[in-house]
Amino acid sequence: MTDHKIPLAGVIGHPIAHSKSPRLHGHWLKTYGLPGAYVPMDVREDDLEDVIRTLPKMGFVGVNITIPHKVAILDIADLVTDRATLIGAANTLIFRRDGKIHADNTDGYGFIANLKQGAPGWKPSAGPAGVLGAGGAARAVVASLIDVGATEIFLSNRTRPKAEALKAEFGSKVHVVDWVQAGNMLEDCATVVNTTSLGMTGGAEFRVPLDGLRRGAVVTDLVYSPLRTKLLDAADAAGCVTVDGLGMLLHQAVPGFERWFGVRPDVDVATRAAVLR
Ligand code: ATR
Repeated sequence: MTDHKIPLAGVIGHPIAHSKSPRLHGHWLKTYGLPGAYVPMDVREDDLEDVIRTLPKMGFVGVNITIPHKVAILDIADLVTDRATLIGAANTLIFRRDGKIHADNTDGYGFIANLKQGAPGWKPSAGPAGVLGAGGAARAVVASLIDVGATEIFLSNRTRPKAEALKAEFGSKVHVVDWVQAGNMLEDCATVVNTTSLGMTGGAEFRVPLDGLRRGAVVTDLVYSPLRTKLLDAADAAGCVTVDGLGMLLHQAVPGFERWFGVRPDVDVATRAAVLR
């Protein structure tokens, strides 16, 4: 918190109209009766640094950064946390009192917190994890799975070299599986994560064969529109424990809100309802 009477925060992206973050933070500000505001800001890449340097002078205590600026922001920030460096992207900025801009990545935290809440018995070491996709979201997922003790991660991506690149960075716990074998890979997995955009409303259909899903496996989909995806429905039918992706969005917002507004917010039924409304 700073000396400003009304702390301001927000989310910067391009485009930004679709973002659920203003509704989420607005709900928490209201729930906890806190002074403050959280606004969406549509900023082009060329203007990003100017905007970021100006916001603290206007009473902003920090912002979330979303697509397409999550990588570029690392060069603008004065301090970057180790996990943001490891993931190669930041989503949360804190404007410090000394003027320094601090960049962190809370996606991995949000991913793990969501799994823990949605599947309380989940153990990262229970068996291999299978991760579909090797984009930005997969980097956060793989980094956080390793961080909490996953021993083996099978990684499959349509464009295999991207999965190989992740393996090169994250090491021997990661095993690359060819995309055509992604369905077979699931047979061995105690944790299954879809980080691709497959199955998203308006996007390409999720076509990975799902008959290999193991009873009791914990299955989560980062796609949250629709909330119940084809993967989650198939996992339910196979006797898996399913966790939808909306919770990751909610949990990744917790550390930023706490730093900016001084209260650690709960992710509860009312939070979900407020965002879905
Ligand atoms: P994000 O930051 O959300 O991970 P991204 O970096 O654009 O977004 O990554 C999108 C992921 O979805 C990638 O793994 C991508 O596979 P490629 O690396 O082969 O592009 C995956 N993806 C998107 N459309 C896909 C499709 N039609 N079939 C298979 N994978 C797809």
